[in-house]
Amino acid sequence: MAKEYHAPDWETYRMDTTHPHVRIEPMDRERETTGQALEALRSEGMLPHTHYDEKKLLAHRKAVEELFEIPWTAITHRMQRTIWAINAISQPRNMIAAGIFCGNTFISNSGAAVGPGAVYTANDLVGVEILPNEAERAERNVRRIDPTGVAHIVAADAVEFTRNYSEPINLLYLDADGDEARGKGIYLDILLQAFDKMPKGSLVLAHNSVNCADRLKHYLAFVRDPANMANSLNLVIDGEGLEVSLM
Ligand SMILES: C[S@@+](CC[C@H](N)C(=O)[O-])C[C@H]1O[C@@H](n2cnc3c(N)ncnc32)[C@H](O)[C@@H]1O
Repeated sequence: MAKEYHAPDWETYRMDTTHPHVRIEPMDRERETTGQALEALRSEGMLPHTHYDEKKLLAHRKAVEELFEIPWTAITHRMQRTIWAINAISQPRNMIAAGIFCGNTFISNSGAAVGPGAVYTANDLVGVEILPNEAERAERNVRRIDPTGVAHIVAADAVEFTRNYSEPINLLYLDADGDEARGKGIYLDILLQAFDKMPKGSLVLAHNSVNCADRLKHYLAFVRDPANMANSLNLVIDGEGLEVSLM
């Protein structure tokens, strides 16, 4: 049985994907929805607390707006805030983001540790993108925010990259849309390669848990099975959704 947090207005909260910086709701409403989603994670034992530095989140948002080239993205302000806050609170030492296109989703995760929104020190934050041109653009974008190289992009197949990754993975973000046969079903292939490298307490974030639920059914069945994961909660904060799972 799926556990879910639903924002009451998730079906009407809609962004223009080609103008991702346009504000589509009052800041108070965005703060409230994210706060409720984080509280749902806390009450399920998936986050230790719900506190984060909003000024840092907004500094991160401003830097992305000014420095990133984003042809389109489906990451709403609610989703950006939620992903950033989960990283700011859980502070993953190593993070892999799979299928990152121009890098906006990657920096929503890694921006909690690099650039003007940094609130902790990480070891290795990797964005993996299979299309070389997109990987190059994402790397250009990320370098404008993080001169240190802690956050970086690799042009590779995320299944293979994750299989060969030699360090523990503390947070895995899934967004790859795979090939024609698997589509977003590739999430499960990537997770299975990461599984034994993820210590107890690690988090897996899966974008599109709402609008791609059908394609993700094997993945969602796997993470919602207590035999595999300690807990899993679907955050239905916008039309895309984010399934958060705890090792
Ligand atoms: C739909 S985009 C993600 C966009 C993101 N949801 C956003 O709103 O900004 C998915 C990306 O996954 C990449 N991809 C597909 N299969 C992949 C794989 N096996 N490994 C790494 N990246 C992959 C695609 O090239 C594409 O850029």
